[in-house]
Amino acid sequence: MIRKAVVPVAGLGARLLPATKSQPKEMLPVAKKPVVQYIVEELAQSGVRQLLFITGRGKTSIENHFDRDQALMDHLRQTNKGDLLAELDFEQSGLHFWYTRQSVQRGLGDAVLHGEAFAGNDPFIVALGDSIIRTPGDATICERMAAAYEERGAAAVIAVEEVPREHVSLYGIVEPATDGGVFTVGTLVEKPRPEEAPSRLAVAGRYIFAPVIFDLLRRVAPDACGEIQLTDAIRMVCESGRRVVGVKLEPAEKRYDIGSIPSYFETFIDFALADPDHGGRVRDYLTALLRA
Ligand code: UTP
Repeated sequence: MIRKAVVPVAGLGARLLPATKSQPKEMLPVAKKPVVQYIVEELAQSGVRQLLFITGRGKTSIENHFDRDQALMDHLRQTNKGDLLAELDFEQSGLHFWYTRQSVQRGLGDAVLHGEAFAGNDPFIVALGDSIIRTPGDATICERMAAAYEERGAAAVIAVEEVPREHVSLYGIVEPATDGGVFTVGTLVEKPRPEEAPSRLAVAGRYIFAPVIFDLLRRVAPDACGEIQLTDAIRMVCESGRRVVGVKLEPAEKRYDIGSIPSYFETFIDFALADPDHGGRVRDYLTALLRA
């Protein structure tokens, strides 16, 4: 079981402006909860105990959200709203939260590099702060990835999902070297053109790394925008002869990347429809709206 996770939340979120001018995209609501709460709950369910957020300027509301608010707790208890307590008491989740800041947004690879002292000699999960993975089954994607990490002696494990060919240019795409739901990755290509893509398997916002990733990240040259790309370091892991394993999302599993306006809208609608208390009403509303 992997006990440590790094959650990068320092990005600018420019694609979601103006909503993200003064609040982090990771705190935007998806139905009843902010995006990042889904990720924290998924990690707690996966057995993570130590969680490091890589935050940045303007992201303090994330720290506030996961901090204990005694006055709010007392108020909820006194007003018989005890059912909300469980959802707000993050101390009960068994997680210990750590925070560090990425002062200059030099890309996801640089954000992960900020987790080096936290990881020490242990393998760790990286879960993107703007990607929710909905798992209807018992084992989360991170639990299945952790099993693959141990069983296959991997240096890196990547969650992947199949995307339509016309969308491959939006993602890091893997080239599988073997078949199956858990497979060896030959290499990775960042945002390929559809005709050049080695597969339709897109990197899906969850990774497990051995600490060797930090040495490789330090060797990655910044791209044209000055960013250190995590994909480049993973490609170096493949090239070094170490094993990189891909784990496919199950057909019933879905990745929601809320980083762009259309996908944020879609994610909100999906989760609002799935809400056990209010989903039925939303469904009736949308059905009537679309018929009109
Ligand atoms: P994105 O690749 O979506 O980048 O980040 P972004 O900067 O947040 O978004 P845009 O392009 O400006 O709209 C994926 C994840 O990596 C984090 C983000 O917070 C997000 O959770 N990230 C990205 C960092 O922590 N630091 C960075 O320098 C870049």
